[in-house]
Amino acid sequence: MLKKFKTKKGKEVSIRYLLKSDTRDLLDVYNSLVDEKSYTVATRKFTLKEEKLFIANSLVKIENGEAVHLVAECNGKTLGIATIEKEISPILEHRGDFGIMLKKEIRGEGVGEELMKTVISEAKKFLKVKMIILRAFEENKPAISLYTKLNFKKVGGIEKGLKHFGKYKNEIIMAKYI
Ligand SMILES: CC(C)(COP(=O)(O)OP(=O)(O)OC[C@H]1O[C@@H](n2cnc3c(N)ncnc32)[C@H](O)[C@@H]1OP(=O)(O)O)[C@@H](O)C(=O)NCCC(=O)NCCS
Repeated sequence: MLKKFKTKKGKEVSIRYLLKSDTRDLLDVYNSLVDEKSYTVATRKFTLKEEKLFIANSLVKIENGEAVHLVAECNGKTLGIATIEKEISPILEHRGDFGIMLKKEIRGEGVGEELMKTVISEAKKFLKVKMIILRAFEENKPAISLYTKLNFKKVGGIEKGLKHFGKYKNEIIMAKYI
């Protein structure tokens, strides 16, 4: 385990590396984001088979030093994940691509911030990346506010660059040197 802390509402949360046993809980997290029509990549529900494949690939990447995937666990349930994947090309290998998702019931208690800080610190140590890049829907105010709080700067954007349940939405790109 990497970190244990109490949330703003007093729940005990631990942050650790992804395990195969997280599969069902993370499938639930992902599919609940589809139900919410959240501003994330989750726009189509995954099957258990697809989630198993995703986790298996993620574990290989962690093993190979190509990615850091950390989860947040509370009361024996995995409620969220944050990932940084290293770019493979030699001209991009100093960059890590970031993503995060938490189940609704644990949001707004400081978990996203802790998880993000921890995954960045692990990526700096083990992936040797020098820069974190992320992309977000312009409408995703909670996420953009978290990224801004952690000193990410907007470095670009693509008008109507993302598709959200049939509608084109603006994408913003943020980055931070670490
Ligand atoms: C974005 C997300 C990871 C934030 O995690 P969280 O645990 O809810 O955020 P925290 O409680 O750690 O809050 C940290 C900061 O984020 C910002 N923030 C969080 N929720 C917010 C909200 N509802 N409105 C505005 N700002 C918000 C604030 O700046 C906050 O700092 P503060 O507490 O000092 O005000 C979480 O909302 C989530 O998983 N959302 C669904 C998935 C998603 O959108 N992922 C990002 C895709 S790009």
